[in-house]
Amino acid sequence: MARITKLDDIVSLCKRRGFIFQSSEIYGGLGSCYDYGPLGVELKNNVKKAWWKSVVQMRDDVVGLDCSILMHPLVWKASGHADKFADLIAECKKCNTRTRVDHLTDHIEEHTEHISIDAVLAKAHDLSNKVCPNCGAVGQFTEPMPFKLMFETQMGANVDDSMTLQLRPETAQGIFVNFRNVLDTTRVKIPFGIAQIGKSFRNEVTTKAFIFRTREFEQAELEFFCEPGTDEKWYEHWKEARFNWYINLGLKKENLRFREHDANELAHYAKACVDIEYKFPFGSGDWQELEGVANRTDYDLRQHQRGMRTLNKWFENNRDLTNIELADEAEDYQCGPLSYFDDEKKRRYIPYVIEPSAGIDRSALAFLVDAYDEEEVRGERRNLLRFHPALAPVKAAIFPLVKRDGMPEIACNVHNELKKYFNCFYDEKGAIGRRYRRQDEAGTPFCVTIDGQTTEDNTVTVRERDSMEQVRVSTGQLLNHLREKLEA
Ligand code: GAP
Repeated sequence: MARITKLDDIVSLCKRRGFIFQSSEIYGGLGSCYDYGPLGVELKNNVKKAWWKSVVQMRDDVVGLDCSILMHPLVWKASGHADKFADLIAECKKCNTRTRVDHLTDHIEEHTEHISIDAVLAKAHDLSNKVCPNCGAVGQFTEPMPFKLMFETQMGANVDDSMTLQLRPETAQGIFVNFRNVLDTTRVKIPFGIAQIGKSFRNEVTTKAFIFRTREFEQAELEFFCEPGTDEKWYEHWKEARFNWYINLGLKKENLRFREHDANELAHYAKACVDIEYKFPFGSGDWQELEGVANRTDYDLRQHQRGMRTLNKWFENNRDLTNIELADEAEDYQCGPLSYFDDEKKRRYIPYVIEPSAGIDRSALAFLVDAYDEEEVRGERRNLLRFHPALAPVKAAIFPLVKRDGMPEIACNVHNELKKYFNCFYDEKGAIGRRYRRQDEAGTPFCVTIDGQTTEDNTVTVRERDSMEQVRVSTGQLLNHLREKLEA
């Protein structure tokens, strides 16, 4: 119960302090879509920066990419999404609510998260004991039916050149279709990865818990191409690297775990898959997927070679995918357009792919939940976000103790100097204690106060958020002092 209250507390803090708002709130809100406010956008940008730094910038074997959201319709035919990306749903005959079959719980509670659509399809569907999550009716469901998850849109103004496109449900396919471009224009050699951060869209049947599962969200995905036979080694490598990324950014180890997928749970393209799970304060059993790491084998590149061979058929069919089957694979597919030639081994092959796929919004939620704390200080409740400095939206707040005696002028100078290097905030309103509390709640690691002593000896106080300890630092040393602490 206490942990559920914690999520409510976070939702209310996010609203109160401008982290996250309901989308289109003045019109009554749009279901499961959210907007990031002034503090939220900084947090989210910092999560993306930390991911990019770790996955791209700090490595010599990964390059970045930023693809368009709208892609050729054949991309989704080849990837399997056009035919398979659906949830199996059943409708409650009493209240007409549609629910994912794998999310329905038995009359006696049963853990149903993490069952893939393939596994759900393969199972017999006895819904006689299942409970409608909306009205509580037991066993009152229609026959299960597939529900497509991709959003459709129209492109083009003229009848003869317009076509139906899908908003991408994952960023990964943009990487696969650019594999050849990156190979031909850079000096990458296998093993290497292509990384991308961007929006994805899924018309989720059941949305969930604030920004955990939404219809528009951001993904950070890496497709790491390697020689077949080395894939298991790289799978282990990325499992560890991604797990440690969360720990290094401050998530508590006891709240993170791996969950390896069973064979019957694996997506059609995967040889192995593990979820990095976080103990979120909601849901059955609390543990929920934060990120997936999958061994996708050579599936995607082979499928896109088939997609390229289908192009003529698609033109002949008036650029319509209806009733079009994907072309067969060429006999010499290992030498196809998306193959790789190893100069040293003089061998051509289709690379295997290891894919760590993270959700930026879901990670931001985990960082918020994990950082959230309440404590009693001198008889008063203190709410704080113990963010890692790299994630904190504001790195330092600058306050004049009072609005006179030259203190605001000095504080403004300090602020103007520090903001060249990191995100800072200036505040001169209200009692100093209240200003500290507001910054604690925003997760600001340091508060710098200009007081009477500053005018005498050029020192300021630097207060640290978690310990509330204060030290005096000379204004000349302030930037170095803060940078050392922020980068530690
Ligand atoms: N390319 C593989 C892929 O997309 P996924 O498990 O469907 O795999 C990867 O998604 C990650 O994207 C998830 O672990 C989660 O963090 C995030 N994600 C997926 N669907 C989401 C949704 N509806 N809302 C928020 N995040 C989502």
